Amino acid sequence: MKAKVSLVLNGESVSAEVEPRETLADFIRERQGLTATHLGCEHGVCGACTVEVEGQTTRSCLTLAVRADGMHVKTLEGLAADPAMMVLKRWFHDEHALQCGFCTPGMLITARDILSRHRAPDAGTIRKELSGQLCRCTGYANIVKAIEAAGRELAGA
Ligand code: FES
Ligand code: FES
Repeated sequence: MKAKVSLVLNGESVSAEVEPRETLADFIRERQGLTATHLGCEHGVCGACTVEVEGQTTRSCLTLAVRADGMHVKTLEGLAADPAMMVLKRWFHDEHALQCGFCTPGMLITARDILSRHRAPDAGTIRKELSGQLCRCTGYANIVKAIEAAGRELAGA
């Protein structure tokens, strides 16, 4: 039996008939073709699949598509013109905060969430807040530096 899911994805209304077990991550990637949302572990550990659901950072691999029915979902593609995201992307580039880039979409969405809740956070705060996001390449130091710099810029510090 299939269920109809209708949601607002990056500002656009989309809907589809889905299997009840289909994840939001698969709905976003396979049905909508938005591949910035990455799938790593597919069981809630790595954070690569992080998106925003109703403004809350959410593991899309652990969220059923039917659970997001009627909700507003944002992926990295939908945040392209977001001022904080633009600052974060620039600092990620300038501080070499990525290597393979697999974790980067989830890192950026989480970083934006961190900066929305903490004004110019220090490295310790960023490391704690980032503890749910795994990166296999960078050693985290440059990611933390990039978020710290972006936080300072956004705070006008
Ligand atoms: S793919 Fe969702 S947490 Fe790893
Ligand atoms: S840059 Fe490769 S996993 Fe983070």
